[in-house]
Amino acid sequence: MKKTKTDLLIIGAGPGGYVAAIYAARKGLEVTLVDRKRIGGTCLNEGCIPTKALVRSAELYQEILHATDLGISCEDVDIDMAKIIDRKDEVKDQLVKGIDYLLNKYGVRIIHASARFIDDETVEIDTEEAEQIQAKAVIIATGSKNKHLKIPGIESSQVIDSEAILNHKELPKTLNVIGGGVIGMEFAFIYASLGVKVNVIEFLPHVLPGVDKEFSLRLKRFAKQLNMDIYNNAAVKRIETDDGSAKVYFDYKGKEEVLTSDLVLEAVGRAPEISGLDLFKTSINHDEKKGVPVNDFMQTNLKHIYAIGDVNNRWQLAHVASHQALIAVDHILGHDHVMDENVVPAVIFTMPMIATIGKSEQQCKEEGLDVEIVKVPYSANGKALIMEAEAGYLKLIKRKDNDALIGAMIFGKDADQLLAIVTVAIKNKLSVEALQETIFAHPTMSEMVHEAALGLDHLAIHFVD
Ligand code: NAI
Repeated sequence: MKKTKTDLLIIGAGPGGYVAAIYAARKGLEVTLVDRKRIGGTCLNEGCIPTKALVRSAELYQEILHATDLGISCEDVDIDMAKIIDRKDEVKDQLVKGIDYLLNKYGVRIIHASARFIDDETVEIDTEEAEQIQAKAVIIATGSKNKHLKIPGIESSQVIDSEAILNHKELPKTLNVIGGGVIGMEFAFIYASLGVKVNVIEFLPHVLPGVDKEFSLRLKRFAKQLNMDIYNNAAVKRIETDDGSAKVYFDYKGKEEVLTSDLVLEAVGRAPEISGLDLFKTSINHDEKKGVPVNDFMQTNLKHIYAIGDVNNRWQLAHVASHQALIAVDHILGHDHVMDENVVPAVIFTMPMIATIGKSEQQCKEEGLDVEIVKVPYSANGKALIMEAEAGYLKLIKRKDNDALIGAMIFGKDADQLLAIVTVAIKNKLSVEALQETIFAHPTMSEMVHEAALGLDHLAIHFVD
């Protein structure tokens, strides 16, 4: 048994763990990073990056189908699903290789193996010659895993999860999606855009339960245009497979309904991943469902053990994991700062996208806040018209009592990029006036942020506020 010591041991090399490793190494710590799978975690390998690569292919297909509107005709447009999947792999492989290079460059020791706690001070690594590591600090960054329904038929080979569907090289004719959350809706739009008949079966009254009802209702209209059917208030009860098709049975409007498809995607949420860590051998507080609780510095109940990203069950967002990595490493180094939970941006990559930050209109109502809300239609922006994106809108919210910007929601093309502008403004407490006095280049969609700032004072130029 090999016994070693290190300054910082990080378990899990996703966007939490690898960011913590590079940042800590660059700040002078001796770092060991352990992962039983590939560098990059869910985000790079089975989540954010691969799905967005598929979104790009789906989006391009739709653009080609509508290219005649822009004077370009294309004939015999074909979809090669195997090539789409291969290209997705090329993108993620390039990114993983890049991260691997950087970790090596900054002297991080990478171990590809499983790690488990022996006690509060020691972690054993399951390498050929087992190794016990004692670290001055440990960061648990093991992420999350897909949840699965406990219903008859769920184990059928035609029912796959968000990880398996990323490697499915055949385009099904029909796809039933169980769960209309973020993962379910992103895949539903990818497949529907590629011409697949998609049905979404969602337990709650609206898809994307985390966002304002207004958005999910609007998104439903775009779903309809792609021949997607959405069943809300629908609880899936069992699945039967027979001769290459899967029948999904669900309770809907008081009776049992059934939808048949070639493939079923199960997307019913994710849970913190702590399996295999043997936390029961330590005094670290933990819960199979809720993961590892932490304080605002990402510390567990043990001062030298931290938990960042999905495993601490605060937010399930890659960029939050990366930010928490900086908070944890800085705290280890004696610099205290905490995350501003009120300014966490989030983007849902449906088509169109939905991007949000801060308080939503619904939340403001629920909290009884006196607010001014402006809604800039994309149709009032030249660049949006050029891009055929007139269906979107950008909403900005300010408090009336102190004029502070507190929330923004963007529905439409390039919402992800536009969100970055309002994120910087809200996070840094820029005033409405400061935005009004900023010059935004023309013709760009960013001008909508300027219009929104003017609109909050009823001074909009290009639309009636
Ligand atoms: P989710 O919790 O967002 O959605 C799961 C959905 O499944 C819920 O709406 C739930 O009501 C439904 N459901 C559960 N049981 C059901 C049943 N028996 N029948 C019908 N519907 C049922 O979880 P999801 O979509 O798996 O995503 C997991 C996490 O990953 C989320 O927190 C999300 O924020 C994050 N994520 C973020 C992305 C982004 O930022 N773009 C992309 C993908 C995931």
